[in-house]
Amino acid sequence: MSFPIQRNRRLRKSGAIRAMVRETVLSVSDFIYPLFVVEGSNRKDEISSMPDVFHFSLDVLQTEIQEIVELGIRSVIVFGVPNDKDPHGHEAYHNKGIVQRAIRQIKQWAPELCVIADTCLCQFTDHGHCGIVQDGDAFVDNDATLPLLAQTAVSQAKAGADIIAPSNMMDGFVGAIRNALDIHGFEHIPIMSYAVKYASAFYGPFRDAAHSTPQFGDRRTYQMDPANAREALREAQNDVDEGADFLMVKPALAYLDIIRMLRDRFDLPLVAYHVSAEYSMIKAAAQNGWINEKLVTIETHLGMKRAGVDLIITYSAKTMAKWLREGGFSQ
Ligand code: PBG
Repeated sequence: MSFPIQRNRRLRKSGAIRAMVRETVLSVSDFIYPLFVVEGSNRKDEISSMPDVFHFSLDVLQTEIQEIVELGIRSVIVFGVPNDKDPHGHEAYHNKGIVQRAIRQIKQWAPELCVIADTCLCQFTDHGHCGIVQDGDAFVDNDATLPLLAQTAVSQAKAGADIIAPSNMMDGFVGAIRNALDIHGFEHIPIMSYAVKYASAFYGPFRDAAHSTPQFGDRRTYQMDPANAREALREAQNDVDEGADFLMVKPALAYLDIIRMLRDRFDLPLVAYHVSAEYSMIKAAAQNGWINEKLVTIETHLGMKRAGVDLIITYSAKTMAKWLREGGFSQ
């Protein structure tokens, strides 16, 4: 059957009909908001390459947390920028590390807010790699890194983290963390694995923000080659076998095919990380008056959900929540 029997435009005739047949809906509970915490006091510094995203010292974080909760955002992911870095990233697993202190504070201020801890070493190592480097070799030592990662996860859980999100792409990292959490009585804490994380140029602004650019080499010996798709299935399958509770794909926009593949293959909740440069590119174009920020941002997030994710880590979470409140999504 086709035209004139079939007229697809019938279902686009009015706003009411369009709303009735809309297949993908954005809701504030889809969003996870990233937070950057720093040492010091009275600091709320905008990250130059990420307009409207800030570094917060803990003494000024409470207002931000209140605003997040009032906007209806249900979860945040915490990134720490320590003052002291060393080859083994000690501040990552110190009980009084910046992330651990931030988690304790946030849980005190907003017990209902789900606090996700990014579990990685790169912000905490002086060389900027995500694990232990032997003799200056950028081929990070996988098995020497696992215990430190596990220790980091346990200290974050002790601080009150609701979910552990390991992002360093070592082989076996989910299993090592699951095991350590269980041994320490945190068997109820879920793991949101950055299962499929590409060695991407889209992390540039984040690395400025987190001061985590590798001092030598790059991350291609542990993060994935952007050219590969089948390998993403192996990464995801390994993490599922090791006990992951959520799977993540990162970045998002250049990898919507990967999101769809994982959605079709796995039943776990699926997360997209809409990363820093994806955010900054939209902001930059909007600041130049080249695009409509609101419409482009909404369309971008719809695209990720339509591709199959349940949740999106996004720097636009607060703005989107405000637009949602104004009813701006049901055009
Ligand atoms: C840490 C980490 C990175 C991001 C999140 N966690 C950077 C990296 O792997 O270099 C990037 C997030 C973003 O770009 O928004 N491993």
